[in-house]
Order: sequence, then C-alpha cells, then structure tokens
Amino acid sequence: MEVIIQDNAESASRVGAEIVKKIVTAKQNAILGLATGQTPLLLYRELVRMHRKEGLDFSGCTTFNLDEYVGLDKDHPASYNSYMRNNLFKHLNIPDDQINIPDGMSDDIPSVCINYEKKIAKLGGIDLQILGIGADGHIAFNEPISSLKSRTRIKTLMKQTKRDNAQFFNGDIDQVPNHVITMGVATIMDSQICLMLAFGEEKAKAIAATIEGPISAMVPASALQMHQNTIVIIDEAAASKLNKTQYYRYVYENKPQWQKY
Ligand code: PGA
Repeated sequence: MEVIIQDNAESASRVGAEIVKKIVTAKQNAILGLATGQTPLLLYRELVRMHRKEGLDFSGCTTFNLDEYVGLDKDHPASYNSYMRNNLFKHLNIPDDQINIPDGMSDDIPSVCINYEKKIAKLGGIDLQILGIGADGHIAFNEPISSLKSRTRIKTLMKQTKRDNAQFFNGDIDQVPNHVITMGVATIMDSQICLMLAFGEEKAKAIAATIEGPISAMVPASALQMHQNTIVIIDEAAASKLNKTQYYRYVYENKPQWQKY
C-alpha cells in the first residue's frame, strides 16, 4: 500500500487525476471503476479539465460504477446514474454503451449482480478502481461484516450511512433507500490498481483502521492491505490518526524518478 498525504483535497485530487491520466493514456481501452459521493468530485473536475484543455481522450474507456440504490429511478436526482451523468459523463467523451452502473430498478436483482460480474470479467477486469471510504470503513457499499470474499450483490445500508447520504436527499434520511447493489470486496480486490481518496477529520478513524489496523470484515476497506497495488491519497485531516505519517511522507518524497506519477 502506498500512502500519499497532501495539504488539502484539491492537491490530493490533482495527484489522483494524474494517476487516472497515466492509465488512460497508456491503455486506450482502459477499464475504469468509478465511485460516487462527495470525495471524488474534485478528481472528476480535474479529469474534465484534462479532457477539455489537454485533450485527454476517454472514448476508448469502459466504466463500471461501484454501486447504485435499489428502487431509485435512473433520473432521480440522488441516483448514482444522475450523479455520474452530471459530474462526469456529460463532460467527457465516453460512449453511452461503454458506461455500466448496476440497475437498481430491475425485477431480477440477482441476475443483474451476476451479469455485472460476468461483464467485468469478460472485458478483462478493472484496470483502475477509484474508491472513497465510509466513516464506518466501508468501500463501495460493503458495510461492516461484509465478507471480504463478497461479489456484486444486494446490501442493506447501515443507519449511519443513510444519515451520511441524506444530504443528497434534501437532508431527509427517510428518503434514502434501505437497499443498494454494490460490487463486493473481492470484486474490488480483483482490480489492477485501487485508488482510494479520503478527506476530512470524519474519515481519520476509518483511514487509520484501513491502513494500520488489523484486517477485519468490521472494516471492509482493510482488505486492501492484501491488494498488491493500492494507493491511498488523503489530506492532513484524514491522516490525523495515522501513526507512521513521517514514513509515508519520506517514501513519497524519495520515490525513484521512474516511479513518480
Ligand atoms: P463520501 O462517501 O465520498 O460522500 O464521503 C464515501 C463513501 O461512502 O464511500
């Protein structure tokens, strides 16, 4: 695991965007795993800037989103379909038929989940998976005690997660669906590179548990300790409960030139 600590969310997101750019430039038909929530917004804004100003071409990319609410219409303003359209897809040049988000409106959710896994595998797997983290240590919507071997499936949200996400539902927790379809921990672990971003004091405890705690299904993100190429980019506040920050900074500052992003 590589831990990169930046002064603030803006510079952290710029470093993250450079990593995405490197992948998209190196592999014209890159498979990108995408996340929603507050955390990746600045990274997405930077990717849009790179597309517009630097001609970064996404036309060959295929995307798979981590999750979607069950029972929320694609056009509902809080759906992850709407989020992705508004914050990223309408600004980039990814063809619609190369965009994948779990269908939370399907009558046959088990089939949606199986087919999602099959499609990722058929295309050769995810090259780069962007991740946020929940205050409870979830990745995607793999809440505590999710199997670390889990695959795409339906999950029930914890009350805390519903509370955190109520901001996207006019602050009304009762409007947040109880159920979601989410990639599993093992689905995420199959990605070539995992790129996790986390900002703010409210993420500090989950970040410390993920990076320096024991691997535990109580903190699903801690499974990333078993992943061969995970990069965690955090601001000072999210880093505030880590013990080995001096070492992480030293490693980053002394990276060999060829390893730099
Ligand atoms: P956030 O959510 O980016 O809105 O903080 C992260 C997550 O729940 O994974």
